[in-house]
Amino acid sequence: MLDFLLQRRSVKAAELTAPGPDAAQLQLMLTAASRVPDHKKLAPWRFILFDGDARAEFGEVLADACAAEAGMRGEDAPSPIRLQTERGRFLRAPLVVALISRIIVKPGVPELEQILSCGAAGQTLCLAANALGFGTNWITEWYAYSSQVASGLGLAQNETVAGFIYIGTPVKRQPDRDRPPLASIVSHWHKQNGGHKQNGGHKQNGGHKQNGGRE
Ligand SMILES: Cc1cc2nc3c(=O)[nH]c(=O)nc-3n(C[C@H](O)[C@H](O)[C@H](O)COP(=O)(O)O)c2cc1C
Repeated sequence: MLDFLLQRRSVKAAELTAPGPDAAQLQLMLTAASRVPDHKKLAPWRFILFDGDARAEFGEVLADACAAEAGMRGEDAPSPIRLQTERGRFLRAPLVVALISRIIVKPGVPELEQILSCGAAGQTLCLAANALGFGTNWITEWYAYSSQVASGLGLAQNETVAGFIYIGTPVKRQPDRDRPPLASIVSHWHKQNGGHKQNGGHKQNGGHKQNGGRE
């Protein structure tokens, strides 16, 4: 398990090929993704699946939105090549999962907590797919932020796209990627002169040391 986490790596959407998960594998992945920390059991997320012909059909929604939004910005119409790219976006992988964040008004559960729970669902979906041998790529690109695409997805007012998770069989393993040195992101809290302060790692009065945990 730990080795698996220590070697986790995304795979580019264009390098994810068939086969994708079968129905039983998909059920497992979604069940795992629905088992994340979730204050007051709100399930502030949902999943929309695209496989088979739905991927090309949704490509038409993307191409239309691309053209309409260029028009609204007063830009030239997108080139035929650009529109072809939009039509083919979801065809890059056998399965695309739209991860939808839904904010529910609930005293005691601020919006941030609900968004974080959605993030946990997305990452758990990726890890579950990876554990089954599939590659994943969680991306937003431009269309996660398009109101016309949101309406094509049928999103409600309280819903936002948190990302599109492309899933399939990796063509090859990606080269490794730099990770932040722990010393730059980990610190021990120390009592400050005259009070208890946690300052995100900035030294104050020489009291707060950030040294990656080596004292
Ligand atoms: C919410 C979210 C949106 C992302 N959107 C993009 C994106 O649009 N394009 C991209 O190249 N990477 C995007 N990423 C980053 C990739 O998922 C991935 O982390 C990155 O390619 C590095 O690979 P790694 O997961 O192996 O570190 C996004 C990540 C998150 C969490």
